[in-house]
Amino acid sequence: MRKAIAVHSYKGGTGKTSIAANLAALMAIEGVNVCLLDYDFRAPSIQVLFKVRAQKTINDFLEERCSLTDVLLDLSDKYQADGHLYVGCASSTTESLRDMMTKDRRWEMRALHRTLSAKNKLYDDLGVEYIIFDTSPGVSYSSINALASSDFIILVSKMDEFDMEGTKELVHGIYDTLGRRTGLLLNKIPMEQFPLGEGRKELEESISKIFNLPFLGVIPCYCDIQADGGRSLIAFEQPKHPFTQGLSEVMVKVQDHLKRL
Ligand SMILES: Nc1ncnc2c1ncn2[C@@H]1O[C@H](COP(=O)(O)OP(=O)(O)O)[C@@H](O)[C@H]1O
Ligand SMILES: [Mg+2]
Repeated sequence: MRKAIAVHSYKGGTGKTSIAANLAALMAIEGVNVCLLDYDFRAPSIQVLFKVRAQKTINDFLEERCSLTDVLLDLSDKYQADGHLYVGCASSTTESLRDMMTKDRRWEMRALHRTLSAKNKLYDDLGVEYIIFDTSPGVSYSSINALASSDFIILVSKMDEFDMEGTKELVHGIYDTLGRRTGLLLNKIPMEQFPLGEGRKELEESISKIFNLPFLGVIPCYCDIQADGGRSLIAFEQPKHPFTQGLSEVMVKVQDHLKRL
């Protein structure tokens, strides 16, 4: 399998980074070689989440100061994962955050070409089987580049009205144009609204109809994860946590979709 997945959403705080990072962790635990790339240049989080300090960042790669393989950190030993877990971090200095906001369309087109050609190197030279892009919410150029570089998009939404409306607009405005296969994942659903049994099936059917997208799952809002504030990698630290179990089911569905491409 040589496939790229982007995790995206309309709004911030839906759980993109948590989902992208834990999905990468789950794949590595399963013995799959995976590469997680931080394409959220507005709010990079991968360095904090994995507690690493990158000497070179994806910003350096996109500025043509190094190759993508120079940026990657192999964390398989740190987490004792069977598969390779490579992570590519984005720079979180104020200067870099500002700098990335000033990029014009031409620079972004070059960045897209660089990303597309680097993907092949990851597959061929490092034996990467899955690339996972974490993205900024909405329609920033860097997110569009990550979506355009992917074979499948996991569109994450909460169940609030703003998020659902914006997500609908994203599907019509961007995804239909890009023509990428997309699956919808509802995350952070308040426990009291979390449906069980028949109720869950009904919710899945109505959401699939509203968005005209296949449904990947519903993950409740877990107070302990919320309180933790995104500091730990649940998949490694708590493999039996229902968040980890729910995400494992999502992973199987995503892999099924990718097999059918
Ligand atoms: N299912 C969940 N239950 C509770 N908290 C969650 C869940 N998913 C994510 N979070 C928390 O929500 C916050 C935002 O998540 P994050 O992954 O950073 O979102 P994004 O990348 O979309 O901005 C983090 O504190 C994270 O731990
Ligand atoms: Mg994020």
